[in-house]
Amino acid sequence: MKILVINGPNLNLLGLREPAIYGRRSYADLLEFIQKSAAALDLEVECFQSNHEGAIVDKIQEAYGKFDGIVINPAAYTHTSIAILDALKGVGLPAVEVHLSDISTRESFRRISYAGLACEISYIGLGFEGYRKALEYLKKVLL
Ligand code: DQA
Repeated sequence: MKILVINGPNLNLLGLREPAIYGRRSYADLLEFIQKSAAALDLEVECFQSNHEGAIVDKIQEAYGKFDGIVINPAAYTHTSIAILDALKGVGLPAVEVHLSDISTRESFRRISYAGLACEISYIGLGFEGYRKALEYLKKVLL
């Protein structure tokens, strides 16, 4: 089973970026965490990060026929991108939304998630653990 994990803008700055909200662990730490979690679940994962909305849309489109499911943290594009929502709906792969922080208790503009409308489930505010739970969920539904 092959899962694509997509991380959106500024998540490459983890560790440096607002550590009080996102913690001190780096993006490299997140990649290691995801790979270890996937290995423990016997899943194959590819991780992709981009600061560009169109690149994320392209990657979702390319996933069709190559991956069995998608884990996505669209970061700020969560709250703005109908293009990412449409791409997820377009390919129709089972998708899971993840956010490190609890977007429901932050600024009001973070309460809308367009991408989430195309996702089967969301793991919010659990830090890195949300990615593990997302992989676990996909393994269950894909079996
Ligand atoms: C985030 C939450 C978003 O609101 C924010 O723009 C991010 C990260 C999270 O993982 O908590 O960049 O998606």
